[in-house]
Amino acid sequence: MGPAAFSRRSLLRSLAGTALASAASPAASGAQEGAKPAPAPAGPPPDHERRMKWWRDAKFGMFIHWGLYSQLGRGEWVLALEDIPLPEYEPLAKSFTPRPNAAREWARLAREAGMKYMVMTSKHHEGFCLFDTKTTDYCATKQGPGRDLVREYLEAVRAEGLRAGLYYSLMDWHHPDWMRCKTDEAARRRMVEFAHAQVRELMTSYGKVDILWYDMAYPLDGAGWETRRLNERVLEWQPDIVINNRSGAPGDFSTPEQNTQATKGDWESCMTLNDNWGYTPGDDNWKTPTTVLKNLIKCGQDGGNYLLNIGPAPDGSVPEASMQILRSVGAWMGRNGSAIYGSRRSWVNLATGALFTRTGNTINVHLTSWPGTSFTIGGIHQPPKGARLLASGRRVDAILKGSQLVLSGLPSQAPDRPLTVIAVDFEEAPVQKSLANRIVYDVLGGGPDA
Ligand code: GLC
Repeated sequence: MGPAAFSRRSLLRSLAGTALASAASPAASGAQEGAKPAPAPAGPPPDHERRMKWWRDAKFGMFIHWGLYSQLGRGEWVLALEDIPLPEYEPLAKSFTPRPNAAREWARLAREAGMKYMVMTSKHHEGFCLFDTKTTDYCATKQGPGRDLVREYLEAVRAEGLRAGLYYSLMDWHHPDWMRCKTDEAARRRMVEFAHAQVRELMTSYGKVDILWYDMAYPLDGAGWETRRLNERVLEWQPDIVINNRSGAPGDFSTPEQNTQATKGDWESCMTLNDNWGYTPGDDNWKTPTTVLKNLIKCGQDGGNYLLNIGPAPDGSVPEASMQILRSVGAWMGRNGSAIYGSRRSWVNLATGALFTRTGNTINVHLTSWPGTSFTIGGIHQPPKGARLLASGRRVDAILKGSQLVLSGLPSQAPDRPLTVIAVDFEEAPVQKSLANRIVYDVLGGGPDA
């Protein structure tokens, strides 16, 4: 692609406020690993619409990466990145002594931030299980913690009235069969039995679990892990659960990572708050509350959820910076959450200085830069019924002038920070058809008719 094409694409990208498909990380493509020809596209698991209802309304969740790696403070891939020999890594299981009920603080924080669900790593790639398991001694109950950290977590999440999800990595650097399971059929069978037994424990020992969030099928694919069969069982054990797409079998939602690129069907963008999932005290590249909110709104605009990560310290405490950011996000959500929860994809989605969410027939205009006393949105073809500043309820003048929706009588300074929301009501949800929409859909594809 030449420089001209590149700059045109960048222009379109910023216009659309959307990231073009970026090179998929190994993680993001976890579900697609394996060299077999792609199977015929399969729909989501049975009863998808019913099971997904609460999840679609919830919009905003907390991801928690916590494990032995948290003690080293260099991210959750540290074993693999630094080639740490297992005998040197394993003692971390003994020295992991988190304080009791650390998860209560996370759950409170999640609720304060306006998050509606949480997903915690029950076992990350390192193979250490935060739950009690019969399958291995490399687990929280039989090592340093001496207690079931998944149970504590689930109780804490439920106590705050939030939905509870469990992350589970199929890839397991600690299991002797993991690496050879690709080439040795007996090893594969043992590995599959192990993973299925662990998922069974997670799904049957703790009451209701709302989300099963698989990760990293490497080095097998879904057929190798037999995850279609496993997921059928999961739905028997947990008839209301929703399952992500990283097991190699069809899931209820897809999982773009570190970007807010919409995909077909239901999707959830997972993202770090600095540049690491696991606790990394040296990483101070924190996202601002403004960036977090823009990402959340962008996901909402394009029909997705936003799963935002914290990486607690080994004792379970949350980095101060994460707490501050999430609390400030929560303060805004307290005033403007009605524009986020329950929202659905908005087909009004292009403007400079605004993102949009749709709640019923209301278009919520999230002003990311303050326009002064009036703001124009092109490509609207039906008259508004009325408009108001969402946080204060103060009326805003809204008229249709040709195909321009003009909002006027705005205060000269932004009344809310970091973004102000104007809710514009319509008889029917409008579909924006501006010159910019035509160009963007033509170049990038998508659009309401795609
Ligand atoms: C990737 C990474 C992993 C992280 C996850 C979150 O799969 O391997 O470390 O847990 O993405 O989406």
